[in-house]
Amino acid sequence: MAKQHIVILTGAGISAESGISTFRDANGLWEGHDIMEVASPQGFATDPALVLDFYNQRRAQLLTVKPNAGHTALVSLEEKYDVTVVTQNVDNLHEEAGSTKVIHLHGELLKARSSADSNAIVDWTEDINIGTLAEDGSQLRPHIVWFGEDVPMISTAVEYASTADIFIIIGTSLQVYPAASLSQYVPLGTPIYLVDPNKPEGLSSHIHFLQGSATEKVPELVGMLMDLTD
Ligand code: OAD
Repeated sequence: MAKQHIVILTGAGISAESGISTFRDANGLWEGHDIMEVASPQGFATDPALVLDFYNQRRAQLLTVKPNAGHTALVSLEEKYDVTVVTQNVDNLHEEAGSTKVIHLHGELLKARSSADSNAIVDWTEDINIGTLAEDGSQLRPHIVWFGEDVPMISTAVEYASTADIFIIIGTSLQVYPAASLSQYVPLGTPIYLVDPNKPEGLSSHIHFLQGSATEKVPELVGMLMDLTD
């Protein structure tokens, strides 16, 4: 029999216990920054050094952290299920943990791209400075989807969501679209689980809410789903 398909939407909360700040919690990344200054094409045009420095810091920090028990638990689901992780995170902790199918909706910190051609993407672990050039001679920029830019991977994510047998949401405030609308594409009647320490306002009653941190609740949920297929 074909394996059931689990689609998992993750946000900053799954990486919080690895030491990466979320965006909108107290002391979150956006608290000390004007979003439009550091995460928009206009911000990059106005002060490229500020923007490059913001992502250089994020990239350097990423290289010092490790996946946590939440990321790792999701990998074990692959023994019994066909698993697709759709992440809003720009870190590589799902891949580091061993997840084999990961879609990044908002780009990847360990990639960079040409300012002139959004398809000219390269692996990148160093700082990007003004004057660090892409192969086409344009300024290199982080491979990050900024506010106001297209989210090219959303159509792939929607295709996966529309074939989900089980849908899981972990550690996202569901404030940013189109990512936040992904659960609307799952087939009617598909079980939906949500892991977060904070209960979102107006949470639909058909969503199974597991209140707690990713390292505590994700292994619990995975254990339950692994038992289901015995
Ligand atoms: P947010 O910072 O908006 O939300 C983080 C969520 O994680 C909140 O719901 C927290 O309650 C939850 N959380 C905190 N600690 C947790 C833990 N230990 N375990 C589980 N959950 C925890 O982050 P996102 O929803 O991911 O986009 O933000 C979405 C997008 O907004 C990001 O991808 C980023 C940002 O602007 C771009 O930069 C393009």
